[in-house]
This record gives sequence, C-alpha cells and structure tokens, in this order.
Amino acid sequence: MTDRKATLSVGDKSIELPIYSGTVGPDVIDVRGLVQEGVFTYDPGFVSTAACESAITYIDGANGVLLHRGYPIDQLAEHSDYLEVCYLLLNGELPSEEENKRFHDTIKNHTMLHDQMRNFFNGFRRDAHPMAIMCGVVGALSAFYHDQMDVTDETQRQITAHRLIAKMPTIAAWCYKYSLGQPFMYPRNDLSYSENFLQMMFGVPCEEYKPNPVLAKAMDKIFILHADHEQNASTSTVRLAGSTGANPYACIASGIAALWGPAHGGANEAVLDMLAEIGDEANIEKFIEKAKDKDDPFRLMGFGHRVYKNFDPRAKVMAQTAHEVLTELGLENDPLLKIAQRLEKIALEDEYFVERKLYPNVDFYSGIILKAIGIPTSMFTVIFAMARTIGWFSHWNEMVSGNYRIGRPRQLYTGSEKRDYPKK
Ligand code: SDX
Repeated sequence: MTDRKATLSVGDKSIELPIYSGTVGPDVIDVRGLVQEGVFTYDPGFVSTAACESAITYIDGANGVLLHRGYPIDQLAEHSDYLEVCYLLLNGELPSEEENKRFHDTIKNHTMLHDQMRNFFNGFRRDAHPMAIMCGVVGALSAFYHDQMDVTDETQRQITAHRLIAKMPTIAAWCYKYSLGQPFMYPRNDLSYSENFLQMMFGVPCEEYKPNPVLAKAMDKIFILHADHEQNASTSTVRLAGSTGANPYACIASGIAALWGPAHGGANEAVLDMLAEIGDEANIEKFIEKAKDKDDPFRLMGFGHRVYKNFDPRAKVMAQTAHEVLTELGLENDPLLKIAQRLEKIALEDEYFVERKLYPNVDFYSGIILKAIGIPTSMFTVIFAMARTIGWFSHWNEMVSGNYRIGRPRQLYTGSEKRDYPKK
C-alpha cells in the first residue's frame, strides 16, 4: 500500500482517494470513501473494478501472461500435474516431494461419495443436462458434511478442500454414466487423478479399463489450464456467496451455476455446436460476417476475452495438446479441427477481430480435444467446473481466512420517484 492520492473533482468538491500498488499490474484507487460524499462509482460488468486483493493468480491481458502464484501457466502445464497445481493454488508454494506425495495420497482417500448421494442422481431425468445434476449434487454435499463446515476453522476448510478436489471427478463421471444408463464406476486408488477420471467415465464393471497415457496426460493438462483465472464471473460469484458466510459447498455450487453460461464456461460446448453448424470450411466466411453483424446475436464462440487482448496463453497450450491427441488417435484430419484452424486463421486476419483484439481463448480448442477423447459436448462445462473447483475454493479460502465484508454493490436508480398509491 502507498500514501499516493488521486484527486476527484465532483461539482465544487475536490475528493482525495488513496492509490494502492500491487506486486505487479495496475494500481487501484480506493473509492470506498465516496459513499460519504454522496456519489457511487458506476461500472456495470466490472470492467475497471478491482473487487478484492488477491495473491493467487495474475493475468497480464495485454501481453497474454497468466501466473499461478508467480509460475507461468505454460511451465506448469509442461512440468507439473493437476494435483500439484491444486496444492500450489491452495497453499501458495509448490509442495516438497514428501508434501506432494502426502497430498496425492490424501486426495485418493476422499474420492468416494457417501452412498446416499446416489439417490440425488436418480431424481433427475436421464436426459437432464449434466451441469444441472452437478450443480444439485455439489450443493447437496453440504447436507452430508454439515458438522464440518465452520468457515472460521482452518482444519475444516482444509478437509473441505480435499473432499471437493477428490469428489468432483466422481460426481462428474457419475453425471455422464447416469445419462447413459450405465452403472456408476467407483474410483480406483491405483490410478492417477486423470487416469481415474477417464476410468470412471469410460470403464464398465464387465472388464478392466486400461487408461491411454497420452489421453490421461491431455486430460491432466486440460485440468491445469482450467484450474484458476483470477476474478472471472464464476469466481466472483463464489466470493460474493462466501462473503455472506455461506458454507463452501453452497458457494462452489453457485460457481458451477455461473460457469454454465455460454459467455463463460459454457463456451467450450458452444464452440463445438458452432463448428458443427458451420459444417464446412466453405461456410466460414458467412459465419464470420454473422459474428460481425451487430443485428445478429451470433458471436464467434471461443473468441474474445474481457482481459486478454492478446493470445490467451492457455489457448496456445490447448492448440498443441489438440494436435498431440488427434495425432495419437489418428484423427489429425478431423474435419472440425480443420474448420477450427481455418476459422482461427481467417478471424486473426480480419480487421473487425484485429481492431477489437479478439483472439482465441481457452475454450476454442478444448472442446476439440474432449470430443476426440469421446466426451460428449454436454459434459464439456462439467469438466471445466471440475477443474475450476480448486480455483473457486482457493479464492473462497483466501477471502474467509482474512478480513472481509459482505459484498453489497449499489446502483444507479432510474426508476420512478416516490408516488402515492392511487386512492380507490
Ligand atoms: C471464459 O473471465 C475469464 O477469465 C473467463 C475465462 C476463465 O478462465 O474463467 O477465461 C473463461 O469465460 C472465456 C470466454 C469464453 N466465452 C466465449 O468464448 C464467448 C464468446 N466471447 C464473447 O462473448 C466475449 O468476447 C466475452 C464474453 C468473452 C467478453 O465480453 P466483453 O469483455 O464484455 O466484450 P464485449 O462484449 O464488450 O466485446 C467488445 C467488442 C464488441 O463489439 P463493439 O460493440 O465494440 O462493436 O467485441 C465484440 C463485441 O460485439 N466481440 C465479439 C466477440 N467477442 C466480443 N464479436 C464477435 N464474436 C465474439 N466472440
């Protein structure tokens, strides 16, 4: 924090506001005192608003940089694994070899669900969207661990983190199995986190499942690339829910709900639907024009970002992973991949996208990988939610373990002035 000041002139008033600097990134102007001056700031969509102080993730949108506790995302994707990244996001430092092994073992011991949880799945139609099921089941976890949800108790917060990291793959895979009418597969402790997820997704009780190491590594990379992303819409939702003192399972369920939207985590599913709708490289120009037409609600899904005005560093890793997976599966000529690659090339050369600094984001290639692995598009955002759970929890934990106030934005009121109820 510094003692620098910004001066704001409002009418004949001159208001001094403190300026704070972080480790890196833009300074912030503390506007909390404005309410005493009878004015609010106005920032629908929070384009220029820092809602909190955080040490977890830093994004430099102009230069396409993403750091988790200071470590660049491409280095973590290359050298780490998802559970080690979970430890890093949660605790602030990379684990020692011994801490890493203990953490991996701890997570393995929490992967099963209480058997009563099975009943929640049965209440849904078989064709329910898996995000609806995941949202309901994760919120229901608060009914099973109600005696360990004291948000002021660090030990209880830690066990909750372990339970959520461990159980989300089981819940996600069971959402998929339920939609197929296939039996739920139980987690296996002899497999890695991502191998275990693939086993619960594609294994059947009739035969042993042998995970493909290339696909397991790709899944683990996808988990890492989706783990956290600063104060995005769903993470801000989790923080706001947490600021009321709500239990962590309810807060994570609120994050799942917010992520579902096609402008956010639902974009990966929307990208595949868009590529299928384009259908052929010959139709790309028509869809580019639709995306540019203000009167057409169509947008190029997987393109653009509130913060990145350069390549999303995650998209670069994802594009490389897509190539590896499709080559492994002999699908390097996958028509959807060809359409995506051509669409990216054309868009990046088009003045409309260049002028607005619209680049491919994390969602542009992820769906192509997931589809190649055999995962249906309806499960894409479920996988995003599973991976982002550590980010949501880490931000919730950072907030509730410090000083915080209930989040309560104000408004610019444009409704009726006071008027009396008409006498009958
Ligand atoms: C994620 O915040 C995060 O960090 C999110 C995320 C995370 O990890 O948590 O990174 C994950 O949500 C990635 C984004 C996934 N969404 C999509 O791919 C959906 C398509 N993208 C757009 O809906 C949009 O780009 C957003 C929602 C991502 C960003 O919206 P903004 O910041 O509010 O930008 P905007 O709507 O104000 O757009 C600015 C201009 C507008 O044109 P003008 O009014 O200036 O003429 O760019 C245009 C927009 O019309 N524009 C697009 C476009 N995205 C923006 N035009 C066509 N296609 C697009 N995809």
